[in-house]
Amino acid sequence: MKILEIYSAGGNSTLMIGESLRNLETHIPVEKTVILTDTNVSRFYLKDFPSCEVIEIGTGEAIKTLDTVRLIFEKLVALEADRSTFIVGIGGGIVCDIAGFVASTYLRGVRFGFVSSTLLAQVDASVGGKNGVNFKGYKNMMGVFNQPEFVVCDLELLQTLPEKEILCGFAEIIKHGVIGNAGMFEYLEENYEKALALDYQVIEKLVYDSMVIKSSIVNQDEKEKGERRKLNFGHTFGHAIEKTAQVRHGEAVSAGMVVACALSVQRGYLSAADAKRVETLIRNMKLPTRLEFDREKSLDALKRDKKREGEQIHFVLADGIGHAVVEDISVQELEAVIRDL
Ligand SMILES: NC(=O)c1ccc[n+]([C@@H]2O[C@H](COP(=O)([O-])OP(=O)(O)OC[C@H]3O[C@@H](n4cnc5c(N)ncnc54)[C@H](O)[C@@H]3O)[C@@H](O)[C@H]2O)c1
Ligand SMILES: [Zn+2]
Repeated sequence: MKILEIYSAGGNSTLMIGESLRNLETHIPVEKTVILTDTNVSRFYLKDFPSCEVIEIGTGEAIKTLDTVRLIFEKLVALEADRSTFIVGIGGGIVCDIAGFVASTYLRGVRFGFVSSTLLAQVDASVGGKNGVNFKGYKNMMGVFNQPEFVVCDLELLQTLPEKEILCGFAEIIKHGVIGNAGMFEYLEENYEKALALDYQVIEKLVYDSMVIKSSIVNQDEKEKGERRKLNFGHTFGHAIEKTAQVRHGEAVSAGMVVACALSVQRGYLSAADAKRVETLIRNMKLPTRLEFDREKSLDALKRDKKREGEQIHFVLADGIGHAVVEDISVQELEAVIRDL
């Protein structure tokens, strides 16, 4: 097991990479803990949960709403959960986001932790202290910044995760390499086959390195003003594509990273050879480098992007591999790039 301690304004957090769900009991006050999970995770792993109350929710982005939060509040009240209650979210990004939001608001906040069960939650959603739900179709509109006391990253849980979900996690891992760690990027270039086969040592290293990058970026900028924007590499186009084409987040981000690399080359930050390396790695990791999408609709979505300020969009460029810069790009320039694709 590898341990990463995060000290931040939003509280301290212990990330345990390679800890087992079966040891969760040793990290919580069992008699006062309520577990929040989803039906898939419960189907596979309920038998490994410690003996405490369990609240189960459904699956899919559509349930990440205030209605679900309300149902959970009702169950917590029925269970007579009080200020000393500890909440653990066991699941992917959706369960973690909801659990963090519920725990931060129930009785003005109770203690909480996560067992992240998807690769995406392990390398991304469970780190950084953002907890939110969707509202009227807008993603993560309502939420709080608050750190879980711990995150148990049980890598064995990935064995039951569908491949498509695994790949979405790899898209964020590639992103972390490009924006923050050239060594990890090279490691992935050399070990992508083992990574895809979920080789334990390789995954452990990738999850750990990813958490280091994300947490150090977040620590420099918890409330998303400057540095944290770098985590949006590939996401400006990614979100626009995601809103208009029926693709997964990781797939849209992968295609978005290819576009961001092209812009980085155009602006003189990245060599064409390095842009090619990113594209090759994305392809080797079974992720798409180009997607069919509706240009007009995507442009429309881009224009409404919440990161847009005035006529400019804060766009993350790769400054070589392992480093990123944020530059303002005009809507016109982005339109030109999209039309050229
Ligand atoms: N808070 C943040 O900083 C942050 C960052 C990135 C993403 N997110 C959020 O995370 C969410 C996406 O997370 P996700 O990709 O983990 O999706 P998810 O939580 O929907 O999980 C994906 C699917 O896998 C199933 N599942 C989970 N663990 C499993 C396991 N071990 N075995 C088999 N099936 C399993 C789930 O039931 C679900 O059907 C989005 O809502 C996104 O907004 C939040
Ligand atoms: Zn993402």
